[in-house]
Amino acid sequence: LRKMSISEEMYLHYHGLIVPKETHSYESLEFAQGFKFEDDDVLAVTYPKSGTIWMQEILPLVLNGGDLTPIHTIPNWERVPWLEEKQLARVVDKLASPRALVSHFPYNLMPPSFCTSKAKVIYVMRNPKDIMVSSYYFHQMAGFLEDPGTYDEFMDKFLEGKVMFGKWTDHMKSWRNSELGDRIMYITYEEMAQDLPAALRRISDFLGCNLTEEVIQKVAEHCSFKSMQNNNMSNFSLIPKVYLDHDKSPFLRKGIAGDWKNHFSSEQLTRFTSVISKELEGESFSLPWSLD
Ligand code: A3P
Repeated sequence: LRKMSISEEMYLHYHGLIVPKETHSYESLEFAQGFKFEDDDVLAVTYPKSGTIWMQEILPLVLNGGDLTPIHTIPNWERVPWLEEKQLARVVDKLASPRALVSHFPYNLMPPSFCTSKAKVIYVMRNPKDIMVSSYYFHQMAGFLEDPGTYDEFMDKFLEGKVMFGKWTDHMKSWRNSELGDRIMYITYEEMAQDLPAALRRISDFLGCNLTEEVIQKVAEHCSFKSMQNNNMSNFSLIPKVYLDHDKSPFLRKGIAGDWKNHFSSEQLTRFTSVISKELEGESFSLPWSLD
């Protein structure tokens, strides 16, 4: 692998974690450390590009019996804010209970109050090959992220963890080994893409929401890729073009599982699989997808 460096201008380092300066500051990261979790809070955790904004649509609907008001009136970053981002301090007092948040933190950076609370977590996993493809396009459209270079160069950065939030394998290991018992539920992007109503039933059961089949169907309809593309509160069209340029690549780009097949050469696939497999050697969990 080529040795990659990361732009000091665009990213800051926090306890070894790389985060974009545009959306994060030392203050916001410290604010997250001091955040007081309530027992009825719900947190969706993802490695970036694994379905975060999808959960920002799903959680308010599931938690409020399918009421469309939040998803139609509040932008996703205020509706279900990121624990670690600058926005949180501004909107925290406006959050209705039960509160829903998202986070890209690895488990070891979770604040003390999270560990002592009974707050539930949904960890959304996605095939790392598709994450890498999605992230490559995201780095092209996001003005506050480093230019990804060629696809091949970006693969090296991704595998070395020289990207925001570091190595996918480290993130995954930290949450898979977190031993949170029945406080944590694992779900995959692929499962959600294949049968959203079934995924919503699992989420609703986990959160004790008892949604009727009619509500499940309604929520599924409003969380479809098409509905979210058309929802200005969720498609980031309210964000100025210098930050997110949808002409370069839309945030809601393809919304499918397996797009990696259109991007990886056989040499790249071998390289990718060998690095990831090696880093997961000896782990007690198995991956929900085959890497090759
Ligand atoms: P693609 O770039 O592969 O299309 P995140 O929100 O974590 O940044 O993840 C973004 C990825 O999730 C993008 O993947 C985006 O299209 C996809 N996504 C968001 N909402 C979705 C939905 N309702 N259905 C399918 N994919 C969705």
